[in-house]
Amino acid sequence: MKTKLLLFGAPGAGKGTLAGKILDVVKLAHISTGDLLRENVKKQTPIGLTAKGFMDKGQLVPDEVVIKMIQERLKQPDCKQGFMFDGFPRTVAQAQALDKITKIELILEIQVPFDIIVQRVLGRISCSKCGAVYNTYSNPPKVENVCDKCGSKMEHRADDTEATLKTRFDTYNKNAQPILEYYKGKVAHRIVDGLHTLEMTKDDIKKLMV
Ligand code: AP5
Repeated sequence: MKTKLLLFGAPGAGKGTLAGKILDVVKLAHISTGDLLRENVKKQTPIGLTAKGFMDKGQLVPDEVVIKMIQERLKQPDCKQGFMFDGFPRTVAQAQALDKITKIELILEIQVPFDIIVQRVLGRISCSKCGAVYNTYSNPPKVENVCDKCGSKMEHRADDTEATLKTRFDTYNKNAQPILEYYKGKVAHRIVDGLHTLEMTKDDIKKLMV
């Protein structure tokens, strides 16, 4: 089973959702640059203060900030058993920097049509405490506005607006192909049908990661 994964896909494609499914099967460090950056914004760290303006506009945070954050994260002991990147690398420069630290074994590219993505992103809500992700249309919590897992209140991400989503989606489309070209022939690459990730069983996940 591959243990150095890259979850790739447009905003709202379901990278975080697939990561949750993988964690039910194998213990890997889930490294989401979006989550790490949002944590920094919340704590008002120097990284957070730099990142906020870019994130609010749906633009990429500068490579050097993100790369430094990843270098630090990979030093943590939970990464020894393997890891999955979610939302990183987002530029060829980030992919090149990552190659100098470690080698990815498998890219899982989640594909979803744009009209579905709009509904997913605008309907996304997440728990303000444990971060569990739901969707008001497709995957609501049992009790409105209350997390099934820890009972805390839901929140809506500041960058989940129609205007910001367009910038995020255009940025993804501009950068995705060059990144996949960069890995072509070097790293195994599988396409995941993003319309059916919620129904994937543990066996489906195991097959995906061989
Ligand atoms: P980031 O947090 O990475 O956002 P993103 O790529 O836009 O991806 P999302 O988190 O929106 O979506 P996802 O694919 O994880 O989908 P999810 O599983 O939540 O980045 C945010 C910002 O940070 C960027 O814009 C940038 O500014 C900055 N940043 C981050 N990384 C960076 C980097 N490397 N370099 C520079 N800047 C960086 O699912 C979405 C919704 O759909 C949920 O509600 C879910 O319940 C639902 N859903 C998922 N799967 C299904 C399904 N199969 N059926 C029905 N509903 C589903």
